[in-house]
Amino acid sequence: MSILQIQHLQKDYGKESKVVHALSDITLSVEGGVFGLLGHNGAGKTTLMKLIATISKPTSGSLSVCGFDTQKQGDEVRRLIGYLPQELNMYPTLTVQDFVSYMAELKGEKGKKKVMQVLEQVDMAEFANRRISQLSGGMKRRVGIAQALVGNPQILIVDEPTAGLDPEERVRFRGVLSRFAKDGKCVLLSTHIVPDVYQLCEQLAVLRKGTLFFRGSADELLAYVAGKVKLVELENETDLIALQKKTVVLSTTYEHSKIQARIVDESNRYSAQTVPETLEDAYVYCMGGKSYE
Ligand SMILES: Nc1ncnc2c1ncn2[C@@H]1O[C@H](COP(=O)(O)OP(=O)(O)OP(=O)(O)O)[C@@H](O)[C@H]1O
Ligand SMILES: [Mg+2]
Repeated sequence: MSILQIQHLQKDYGKESKVVHALSDITLSVEGGVFGLLGHNGAGKTTLMKLIATISKPTSGSLSVCGFDTQKQGDEVRRLIGYLPQELNMYPTLTVQDFVSYMAELKGEKGKKKVMQVLEQVDMAEFANRRISQLSGGMKRRVGIAQALVGNPQILIVDEPTAGLDPEERVRFRGVLSRFAKDGKCVLLSTHIVPDVYQLCEQLAVLRKGTLFFRGSADELLAYVAGKVKLVELENETDLIALQKKTVVLSTTYEHSKIQARIVDESNRYSAQTVPETLEDAYVYCMGGKSYE
């Protein structure tokens, strides 16, 4: 049985003329491991996570977690889920330990031991008595994960947890998430940081304007551009604009008054040498290319 099963899910915000179709006809199943959710700003990642976490209700369609329906069996689902929202409000004057204890009590979990256990899991036990207001951004994010880990959830939903973290904190974070995902548990991770997905996620989905654009492994996404990424040197912006009309430009760099354009050469029209493709290339390509600034 899939840990997460989503059928024909639709979520609209607003009414009539002002309606926003945040998610349209999403059908998706997720097994164990770390599952990545990619998509531009406004693609619907947070909306999907809130629906799974039972914070909001679908307009139509269904979601189930370990066989429990999110609408009919919300209590069972909430017991199985740990959730780190994109923006978690923490009480700045509380200590780390008091904040996590408070969040644990909301979940019906009591006891200092359980709180210290989750703080240890995220390397925050030594800061248990420090006030939230005195933590760095990365430490706050770790406390956010700690509160999500309370109650030993089956599925951990983390909404852009690595945004704004330095490389060392990101590595640490990846460690926490991949340790959790062992033993048949599941992490659902939304992010804009494509390398994090490549390092962590066996399977991923790409949302585009509320629809499911891709679902598969990182290698399957890479296959879209395999052997087709080239570096083309251009003299000026006019040439770049002309090139963008003919092919997908992934990125551009400016060097010695020339422009290097990283392109996807779909029908092998350019003589430039191919370069090793990255997951970022495949992602940008699927998203329709990057317009130059
Ligand atoms: N409460 C709301 N009321 C109305 N529209 C909303 C609401 N929440 C989200 N939306 C809209 O739904 C769409 C999806 O938003 P969502 O927050 O799920 O995107 P996202 O993929 O998480 O984006 P980001 O990467 O910026 O966090 C957007 O068009 C957004 O403006
Ligand atoms: Mg979001």
